[in-house]
Amino acid sequence: MTRMRLGHTVLALSIAVGASAAPPAGAQTAGPARTIDSLLARMTLEEKLGQLNLLSVNDRPSPAQLDLVRRGLVGGFFNLTGAAATREAQQVAVTEPRLHIPLLLGFDMIHGYRTTFPIPLAEASTWDPAAVEAAAHVAAREAAAAGVNWTFAPMVDIARDPRWGRIAEGAGEDPYLGSVMAAAQVRGFQGADLRASDAVLATAKHFAAYGGAEAGRDYNTVDISERTLRETYLPPFRAALDAGVGSIMTSFNEIAGVPSTANRWLVTTLLRGEWKFRGMVVSDWTSIDELRAHGVAGSRAEAGKRALDAGVDMDMVSQIYVDDLPALVRTGRIPVATVDAAVRHVFDDPYHGATVERERATLLAPEHRELARRVAREAIVLLKHDPTLLPLGATRRTLAVIGPLADDPVAVLGPWSGHGDPHDAVTPLQGIRARAGEGTKVLYARGSGANDSATAGIADAVALARQAEVAVVVLGETADMSGEAASRSTLGLPGVQQQLLEALAGTGTPIVLVLMSGRPLAVAWAAEHVPAIVQAWFLGDETGHALADVLFGDANPSGKLPVTVPRALGQVPIYYNHKSTGRPPAAEKYTSKYLDVAMTPLYPFGYGLSYTTFSYSDLRLSAPRIGPAGSLTVSALVTNTGSREGTEVAQLYIRDEVASVTRPVKALAGFRRVALRPGEAQKVEFALTARQLGFYNQAMRFTVEPGRFRVFVGPSSAEGIEGAFEVVGNR
Ligand code: NOJ
Repeated sequence: MTRMRLGHTVLALSIAVGASAAPPAGAQTAGPARTIDSLLARMTLEEKLGQLNLLSVNDRPSPAQLDLVRRGLVGGFFNLTGAAATREAQQVAVTEPRLHIPLLLGFDMIHGYRTTFPIPLAEASTWDPAAVEAAAHVAAREAAAAGVNWTFAPMVDIARDPRWGRIAEGAGEDPYLGSVMAAAQVRGFQGADLRASDAVLATAKHFAAYGGAEAGRDYNTVDISERTLRETYLPPFRAALDAGVGSIMTSFNEIAGVPSTANRWLVTTLLRGEWKFRGMVVSDWTSIDELRAHGVAGSRAEAGKRALDAGVDMDMVSQIYVDDLPALVRTGRIPVATVDAAVRHVFDDPYHGATVERERATLLAPEHRELARRVAREAIVLLKHDPTLLPLGATRRTLAVIGPLADDPVAVLGPWSGHGDPHDAVTPLQGIRARAGEGTKVLYARGSGANDSATAGIADAVALARQAEVAVVVLGETADMSGEAASRSTLGLPGVQQQLLEALAGTGTPIVLVLMSGRPLAVAWAAEHVPAIVQAWFLGDETGHALADVLFGDANPSGKLPVTVPRALGQVPIYYNHKSTGRPPAAEKYTSKYLDVAMTPLYPFGYGLSYTTFSYSDLRLSAPRIGPAGSLTVSALVTNTGSREGTEVAQLYIRDEVASVTRPVKALAGFRRVALRPGEAQKVEFALTARQLGFYNQAMRFTVEPGRFRVFVGPSSAEGIEGAFEVVGNR
């Protein structure tokens, strides 16, 4: 990690970014470590702790905050954005305090800075890491032009409980897909060279297992085994690290009695020791102070000591390090060396040449919007298809667009939309109107609110639907119903929307249901009674255009679910790579199932339809047997058996049949997007490496055991063609 400039000399320090951070032209010749050493030698204890102090601003730093900067008591601000404001603050930092160290300037870019992309759960639905990387890069380019040099993204938490509102901010339920998306975003934010003027430092968050909150209630307790932690929750963090992520944020939750922000095993033994992470660890918002509420610290000072001892370098908002730790260091309760180690981790070069002109030219650039539209189009998942309805042909004379979310520019942006502005957003109604053209009359009714009990608008909506050949009904959640502190205890359509939907279905006008939501919704009734269903999540600025592209058939849907859609809340947590149990569900009574709901989901992980159809054949393995360090190629033929051009996401799953510990019934191990013309066939190949076959054994050692593995290649986690191979060798 690198952050330090003395006067006008940029000192790029290659701690976390490794080979990509060669010193820039004009840098001092002294090595990074020596430079930090000499700086540390000149710093007072207060100045050192000041570098670990991260504060949020309300638009601009207050006079008191600027005074802290002048005294060297602030390491960074966040939520301070805009070229003019960031330059002003940096100006103070590099000219007024004794040591002229610039500020880290952080901002949450969950799905964009100004140009708003689909929410991360939707981005994961593209199964297109190159597109996701490009989207993160656009966010970085816009933010850097506005003087931001650090983002609190990607959120790489695995989420298997859709009640948890933050499921919207991540890549869903699967460690493999989550890892691919985590690495893509890190590459997108940081680029090949973190010092480039369009790169920002990325943060993998929230370390760790934040998505495992009991009952899906945000901030709640997590109690999982080390095996689950390592095999389910940690892989995306590891992937972010391998992609060079510069910082890690600790999570709010405890794991088995130890809050992450005070968890020395997690942060120091595992992250720094085992994984050799050399970047910086930042707490979450006041999570150091919250150690008191957790009941593991009796005072602010004790909370600070516990966090620093655990290995948390930067204190977000609590202001405990800077206020309470000097006394502890002076009385010998915290060694100076511990503070020095934390300061080393946070030095960086944040100066990105942000100017007001560059900012103006960069934000919402046409190519950014074009990319946002492409990603949004790819993120749409066709859940139920009726070829007589979709795509909407030019022959439709009258379309009804109905629903509380059909023309809501705030909702389409989704939760945590950075500097996204509803004025820039295209609603479904606007997109459909723009595409429908002159020959088609587009009628609109709201029908009901998204989350209230008033039913007065339903009758008008019903009357409108009766006048139309097709009704596009846009239902689901508002933006604030997912994201942080937005857990739900039900998974149905909020408010009276179910009533609205049933009334519209009663008209006999065929319905295309468009679902907007930050989580999978349990819409079993709709799945049975509505002929066509499209999962649109929150698609950002280009929502309406992307939706129209798909509804009118200018684009063929190719999105696949990154998360299981349950039939009923009572099935939660439900995810595809579960264990077998000793009594897998079967017709017999004494097997693992429910009396009142099927064991299967409404829509499985990896599922998504197209306007064309695909078939799978000719599964081949490059070898019937491999050694425990070997690798293997799995291939299959995918054929477009329909009459339209389309893109299929072919998925590879594996199952370890017998092992020394139980293994998931299926685990995603690879995927490929293939674009095929009607009738065209293409061979898809997947490389399977030994690492993907391994797991943590009873001694918690990562191992690849001999035995038979089944492989599945198909269109989702629930379908596919099968083969098998064996790993031979020492156990
Ligand atoms: C709290 C959230 O948990 C975290 O994800 C975010 O980065 C910080 N607030 C800063 O906004």
